[in-house]
Amino acid sequence: MRVIQGDITDMNTDAIVNAANSSLMGGGGVDGAIHRRAGPMLAEYCRPLAPCPTGQARITPGFGLAARWIIHTVGPIWRGGEHDEAALLVQCYTNCLHLCAPHDIHSIAFPAISTGAYRFPKKRAAEIAVETCRSFLSRFGLEVDLHFVCFDRAQYDIYASLLS
Ligand code: APR
Repeated sequence: MRVIQGDITDMNTDAIVNAANSSLMGGGGVDGAIHRRAGPMLAEYCRPLAPCPTGQARITPGFGLAARWIIHTVGPIWRGGEHDEAALLVQCYTNCLHLCAPHDIHSIAFPAISTGAYRFPKKRAAEIAVETCRSFLSRFGLEVDLHFVCFDRAQYDIYASLLS
């Protein structure tokens, strides 16, 4: 597992993960950037896959992206921490990783799911991301190159300190 600072749409991993909303029709942040780079075919492909409940994941081709696959997952909206937000965020990472083996995905890039528009506290979200992925990889013996891609330096530093 490693952390890098940059734009997830530049990653040429087998899969990149999208921080989507349940409509899967695109939006701002990561979702907007991925739909822009993938092109209009992506929304067409996603239409019958929607709605995607919070915590669940859906896989599509990467279309115009370098990545072969996009795994769309819907993170929880932060409502103060008493509405199963942490458990739902764990489900996002777990459900994305469950899609790797069946699709022969050996490298994957995750954004910091839910930490933008969905306002999940960044440090807590990073702890959940690292811990959930670490235990999944060891429990299932999954051979996958996992990258956390952070847009800004502050987020990068949070992940770097957790991974060191
Ligand atoms: N590459 C990597 N990380 C990015 C990028 C990018 N191109 N753009 C934004 N980020 C970072 C943000 O800085 C934030 O830390 O991804 C994290 C997630 O932020 P959002 O994209 O706002 O996602 P989220 O908080 O899960 O909210 C999802 O926002 O864009 C809409 O349609 C989306 O309704 C959904 C909601």
